[in-house]
Amino acid sequence: MSREEEALPINLRCEYEVNPIGLDEPAPRLSWNTRCKRRGWRQTAYQTLVASSPSALASDHGDVWDSGKVTSSESIHIVYGGDPLLSRQRRWWKVRVWDEKDTPSAWSDAAFWEMGLMQEEDWDGSEWIGREAPTTPDGEPAPFLRKEFHLDPNIRLARIYVCGLAYAEVHLNGKKVGGNIERDPGYTDFSKRTLYVTYDVTSMLRAGDNAIGAILGTGWYDVHDEAVWDFHKAPWRGRPRMRLMLAVDYEDDRTEYIISDSSWKVSTGPIRRDGIYSGEIYDARMEMPGWDEPGYDDSHWSPVSLLSAPTGRMTARVCPPVAITHTITPIAISEPKPGIYVVNLGRNISGHLKIRVNAPAGTVVTIRYGEKTSPDGSLDRSNIDTLMLKTDPPQLFQQDTYICKGGGEEVWEQRFSYSGFQYAEVTGLPYKPEASQLEGRFAHTYFESAGEFECSNPLINKIQEATRNAYLSNAQSIPTDCPQREKNGWTGDAHLACEMGLMNYHSASFYTKWLDDFADNMLENGQVGIIVPTGGWGRGDCHPAWDSAYPIVTWFMYLYCGDTRLIERHYGNIRRYVDYLSGRTEDFVTPFESLGDWLPWSTVTPSQLTSTVFLYVDARIVERMAKLLNKTDEAAKYAVLAENTRMAFNAKFFDSERNIYANGSQTAQSLAVECNMPPESHRDAVFARLTENLESLGHIDTGILGAKSVPWALSENGRTDLAYRIISRTEQPGWGWWIQQGATTLWEDWKGENSLNHIMFGDVSNWFFQWLAGIGLDPEVPAFAHIRIRPNPVGDLTWAKAVYDSMHGRIVSDWRKEGGFFHLNISIPANCSATVKIPASCSSLVTENGNPLDRAECVSLRRREEKWAIVEIQSGDYSFEVRD
Ligand code: BGC
Repeated sequence: MSREEEALPINLRCEYEVNPIGLDEPAPRLSWNTRCKRRGWRQTAYQTLVASSPSALASDHGDVWDSGKVTSSESIHIVYGGDPLLSRQRRWWKVRVWDEKDTPSAWSDAAFWEMGLMQEEDWDGSEWIGREAPTTPDGEPAPFLRKEFHLDPNIRLARIYVCGLAYAEVHLNGKKVGGNIERDPGYTDFSKRTLYVTYDVTSMLRAGDNAIGAILGTGWYDVHDEAVWDFHKAPWRGRPRMRLMLAVDYEDDRTEYIISDSSWKVSTGPIRRDGIYSGEIYDARMEMPGWDEPGYDDSHWSPVSLLSAPTGRMTARVCPPVAITHTITPIAISEPKPGIYVVNLGRNISGHLKIRVNAPAGTVVTIRYGEKTSPDGSLDRSNIDTLMLKTDPPQLFQQDTYICKGGGEEVWEQRFSYSGFQYAEVTGLPYKPEASQLEGRFAHTYFESAGEFECSNPLINKIQEATRNAYLSNAQSIPTDCPQREKNGWTGDAHLACEMGLMNYHSASFYTKWLDDFADNMLENGQVGIIVPTGGWGRGDCHPAWDSAYPIVTWFMYLYCGDTRLIERHYGNIRRYVDYLSGRTEDFVTPFESLGDWLPWSTVTPSQLTSTVFLYVDARIVERMAKLLNKTDEAAKYAVLAENTRMAFNAKFFDSERNIYANGSQTAQSLAVECNMPPESHRDAVFARLTENLESLGHIDTGILGAKSVPWALSENGRTDLAYRIISRTEQPGWGWWIQQGATTLWEDWKGENSLNHIMFGDVSNWFFQWLAGIGLDPEVPAFAHIRIRPNPVGDLTWAKAVYDSMHGRIVSDWRKEGGFFHLNISIPANCSATVKIPASCSSLVTENGNPLDRAECVSLRRREEKWAIVEIQSGDYSFEVRD
């Protein structure tokens, strides 16, 4: 057997991440993929070893936990079963697997995870420190904190554990900790939960004198900018504060702790003001060179104030941080009016500008960010600055100000805010800047890419690219609606983009964190906020199409990632929410007005209809969750609720003579088909009304709900061709029209009148993966352990390809029409299988690797459907060919 054919576990992950540090999960879960080129490889057993040292692990000694040989095909979310884990412990682990002939693989490479601080006592008495100052409506200068300390030689390892509210930028010996990370630790309802982060700072320390410093930002903790969502009145609001512990482990097993306490000093410096909506004002003349290094004279600094602890419990940040991921050189700088420069990045992003200036001391450089320009080339912010409250004098909004210190080139970028923009207006410079002096910095929650899609239609590729960029722009520690105007965790937007996010990025731990935000957000009576987190705004409303993000995202995490722990954790809450919602119905129909098919093109779907559909969806989800948790009685109860809702929905909205729901809108028809609402005998006719409507209009005529359900309803009923036609048109309304207008991110509405960076129409990318390239989820077998491969050579497409790194490993579906042949290359990860729909009028026209189907290895013909041959395959790489 060649090396490639031998099985080997690879891609070891713990709680979705590679070698994570700072976990506080008492029973972390371990996952791996198996690399094996041999077809049909199946796992029959595994063994995991967890050791206290790399050397123990290297000698195959699981001194912490040896699972023994476990007969199982499971390779994801294996729950650690050793002794209780203690704070700061690092554990090394590896795994081997057995195949169907009971042959063991070699051991995988070693991986590790490291615990953070699990108990309050572990913080070693560290206190919350900051700078006491009266809160003024305009905000105050950012506190700088510092302390010096001495370390012995032979440092083995060092960690900083820190929670800074809203943000702490930590410095050690003159350098920022965390590289490109910004706005750590992340956004939560601070009265319920705060996050701490763990940084590896081993290489930043030295024997002898050291200095630690931190700059605190206001962020969502101390919002002083007034906007309609009332975060300036949030119950958690307080002056920025920080709790920190630096733990230094020496070679001789001693540990020394440096903690935040009254021995630290505080001052204010160049950051005169920072605001999450407004941006930053920085006066470089007030810089304090050397403040974060040992030997700095801090005699004029004050002792820090000891501040109260936030009421929220402190937990580890489990999701990736926000970080600057791209630096973008502008494509043009224009000067619409003398001295006013407008920078064009060529693409819309979330982030800020990094500037290089060379101007006399006191020169005030102002940067205003926006998404559009007026016909005369000047910055136009009329689509985004509508919801700030203080207009007289106008409140600062998406604006950074830098005041030069003079004396040579100065490089600066803001830290504690972000803007949504393609254009930035720069004023105050005494000369025309060059592109290299004004760079765009794209900042968002940092995800590894999990999927790629490409096809022969450049327009579709641009929609895919724009969707990914809108998704990233709206991943800011929580899923948001838009990076410029609101920056809110609108729940409807989030669930509509969740599948797309999971197919494109390793975003599982991001949603894990946000579901905790949901749990924090829930009221006793089961109500959830329409934005999560909320400082109180939107409380008391009921919007099922938005609120259902709680059950829906939890369920997607199960379907896409096989996560049952989230179901265990959130089931009780989710049930409570569904009980609350069903308690608000009249005869199982939601009687009230609520958010529904938001921002439709022209036809409005009644919100009573869409909300009732969501009650149905939620009840079905609870039923399935209850089954998974072996709660048979509860499963039965919610099955009855679902069925009653379906019947009531049909009684109220269905016209069985015309086969339309309510006004027969595309959204109503497609949601009904998608959710299987119509009586069986009417199903086809309901679907026919949808296709007739689309054929006659020739375009999408929905808001955000229908924009997801229409393509899916079409594809699931054999009309991917029609969905493709609608999506790939370039006239208004549609995704293609946005691209035609120059969009590089998705827009908020079909009319192009609002934000130009919203993700709520973004499921289209998920549809590309699942219905064009054809890597389809099988909802009966979560986490792609079984895959539905269904390439769709529709319209003018001549090829499409998708690669998706699932929890079980890499899946590829790659098809091409060429020279009278249809080629389909597929990779199925080891231990998985797939049903493949091959477009062929007759199965005898299909070969695999040159062999007729009945002689192809690990391939079996299941059945024929009109124009399709359906085959079942096992893991491995396959190359199918169909003669026309
Ligand atoms: C947001 C949306 C959101 C909606 C709901 C808007 O202002 O930007 O994305 O879902 O409000 O009302």
